[in-house]
Amino acid sequence: MENLPSSFFAQTIMDWYQRHKRALPWRETTDPYLIWLSEVILQQTRVKQGLPYYERFADTYPTVQQLAAAPEDEVLRLWQGLGYYSRARNMHHTAKQIVHEYGGVFPDRYEELLKLRGIGSYTAAAIASFAFREQVAVLDGNVFRVLARVFGISEDIAAPASRKVFQELANQLIPADAPDTFNQAIMEFGAIQCTPLMPDCLFCPLQQSCFAFTHGLVQELPVKSKAKAARPRFFHYIVFELEGQYYLRKRLSGDIWEGLYDFYLFESDSKMLDSASLLQELQGASIDVQEQQVQLSRKDYKHILSHQKITARFYLIRLQTRLREEVLQETRLALFDTVKIDALPKPVLISSYLKDENILLNL
Ligand code: ADE
Repeated sequence: MENLPSSFFAQTIMDWYQRHKRALPWRETTDPYLIWLSEVILQQTRVKQGLPYYERFADTYPTVQQLAAAPEDEVLRLWQGLGYYSRARNMHHTAKQIVHEYGGVFPDRYEELLKLRGIGSYTAAAIASFAFREQVAVLDGNVFRVLARVFGISEDIAAPASRKVFQELANQLIPADAPDTFNQAIMEFGAIQCTPLMPDCLFCPLQQSCFAFTHGLVQELPVKSKAKAARPRFFHYIVFELEGQYYLRKRLSGDIWEGLYDFYLFESDSKMLDSASLLQELQGASIDVQEQQVQLSRKDYKHILSHQKITARFYLIRLQTRLREEVLQETRLALFDTVKIDALPKPVLISSYLKDENILLNL
């Protein structure tokens, strides 16, 4: 590992930050609730995509009390499109806990923050340092990359065991008198200067002391093992329509998209589903339809998650009468008008289908 005085590294990064930082709303506050909100959103999204979500959330729920009092459907609807919906559900859970068990006051120590659901070491370090100026270093993808390059660390950043090496180094580097600025600075440096593919080494203030640069290893560092190939899944959605209303159901736990609403779902091993199997599936659920009633969506909808690759097809069935009570109980479907459907939290591909079919307005 490169031997670089920690104060030189910290000072250089922070000087760079003062000159290059973006003006971002969560940098203008020390409110732990708003910092928490921003960090949860930014964990899965780039600043550009995350910013409108942050603004909408902060406008709708300016305080942890307001988030805690909101219905879960509404919180998930605001989160729609960000993915990783468990983060929104965990945040909602923790907001209620802070209101009801902590008297609405955020814990102000890293170790205490870690005890809250959905707050892991990254988020706890971000809140503790930005809101309370605790000397605890954040580690995210940006930080891993900057440290791996500057200090020449070749540990696989995808391996959980490597975390310790980076955490120890980062904790040595973070200054006691500016932990908040240092954490913002190193993340910003990774996001803007020391980027994954084309880092701006030519104008980098650490160029001469960077291990990767001086050894010609900028493209090789950080080392990151490849993720497993995503598992393909094929969803066949049966869209039951009755006089302009549609049957949907809320997804349960145990699979993706918990708490979001979708249609009757039949999953198969292949993209194709012949009409005989479709009718047989429906018969199995005691739903009688004729083949002529089924209208296949014009296209397939694809959605890529971190470990799954979803292909969805939609089969619209116009009903003449309501589904029977036993069927509703069995399938948990319920009939919704389009105003209500618009307000429900839905997977993005469900939303896209509804817009493509002009069932929901394409706003
Ligand atoms: N990504 C994660 N946290 C961030 C922050 N506080 N500012 C900018 N980008 C970030």
